[in-house]
Amino acid sequence: MRRSVQIQTARGLSKYEILISNGGLLRAREFVSDILGDHPKKIAIISNKKVFSIYGEDLVQELTSSQCPVVVYLIGDGERFKSFSVLETTVDFLAENKISRTDCVIALGGGVVGDLAGFAASVYLRGISFIQIPTTLLAMIDSSVGGKTGINSGHGKNLIGAFYQPRGVLIDASTLATLPDREITCGLCEAVKHGILSGYRLFNKTKSLIGDVKFDNEFDAFLAAQIKFKAKIVSGDPNEDPSRSDQRSRKILNFGHTFAHALEKVTDYKYLKHGEAVGHGIVFAVELSKKLGILDESVVNLLRGVVHRIGPLPSLEKLDRQQVFESLKRDKKVIDGTLQWVLLNGIGKPVIFPHSKLGDALVKETIHEVISQ
Ligand SMILES: NC(=O)c1ccc[n+]([C@@H]2O[C@H](COP(=O)([O-])OP(=O)(O)OC[C@H]3O[C@@H](n4cnc5c(N)ncnc54)[C@H](O)[C@@H]3O)[C@@H](O)[C@H]2O)c1
Ligand SMILES: [Zn+2]
Repeated sequence: MRRSVQIQTARGLSKYEILISNGGLLRAREFVSDILGDHPKKIAIISNKKVFSIYGEDLVQELTSSQCPVVVYLIGDGERFKSFSVLETTVDFLAENKISRTDCVIALGGGVVGDLAGFAASVYLRGISFIQIPTTLLAMIDSSVGGKTGINSGHGKNLIGAFYQPRGVLIDASTLATLPDREITCGLCEAVKHGILSGYRLFNKTKSLIGDVKFDNEFDAFLAAQIKFKAKIVSGDPNEDPSRSDQRSRKILNFGHTFAHALEKVTDYKYLKHGEAVGHGIVFAVELSKKLGILDESVVNLLRGVVHRIGPLPSLEKLDRQQVFESLKRDKKVIDGTLQWVLLNGIGKPVIFPHSKLGDALVKETIHEVISQ
């Protein structure tokens, strides 16, 4: 069964399709030619060795035709390859292969490949067509939707990047069959985040999947519901307007991420995967909301329980609490000198709180509690 989600972007005119189609990878040519039209185009697939060794050959075979040559560039596997130097070699590859304004970049892989390839497509020749084929759960429901692309720098994660919408996104959940359990856990953490922000309907749908993930029709419906939620938020605030702080501003998608980014930073991006850090970050935001007296104890217990059921999250026991606090205060999402916390009034009711209203003591106390749990 094919499902389609439309997303409206910054200029208000360009819309693109996110197609959810089990087995769709093997019908990619139709999707690509619907987007690019029929006349000859060159396609540059950007992937990593691991993903390409599983799905690359099928995709190349499907896309290659006499009119449409395909070239392939493989980056290394891992967060550290979302870097300036890999961006440079990727753009060099596009230039060496004479990729032109009418050609297209396709990202085949998880969020690392998608973020890097999207950014390369946005800067090469001031922007060429870009299509995402995400192959992790996290990339399907989150990173491939909404047009944030970028790389990391020594000064911070995702510090350099662009809002650059793809021309289309093709999601084939059958590719998740080879994804390691730990990566499924990561995707479910982001999915629970969306559920909490959206309301009971998406939250319960997501909750019912935990511990029983099967890549069937129902799963495709879950993906569509997840993507629709993210698409709705992104369409309403495509460039994350810094002056907005309402319940539907794009900033709310940062729920759980302030603490998550601090954890990733102090562990040098090696100990925790991004989604696992988000799992801990959700618990942190929930505890902080409880301390502020804005979230019911029953919801706190429900959410703590759901995060723990998703899967084992690496223990935080050995982390230095002071380092985590200092890292939090250097978060890149500081606006007017203060950190913006996304907290919770209830399921479906996010609230944005400036750090200046909370104070250091409450945050330090919460760090202590969450790390000791
Ligand atoms: N752009 C955005 O809006 C946005 C949103 C959320 C996260 N992100 C970024 O996404 C990145 C994390 O993405 P991720 O969780 O997909 O990690 P990832 O891209 O590192 O992929 C995780 C692992 O799974 C492997 N893999 C991918 N697909 C596979 C498959 N089908 N079968 C077997 N193995 C497979 C990869 O090789 C890798 O080892 C981070 O850099 C994060 O900053 C971006
Ligand atoms: Zn995230």
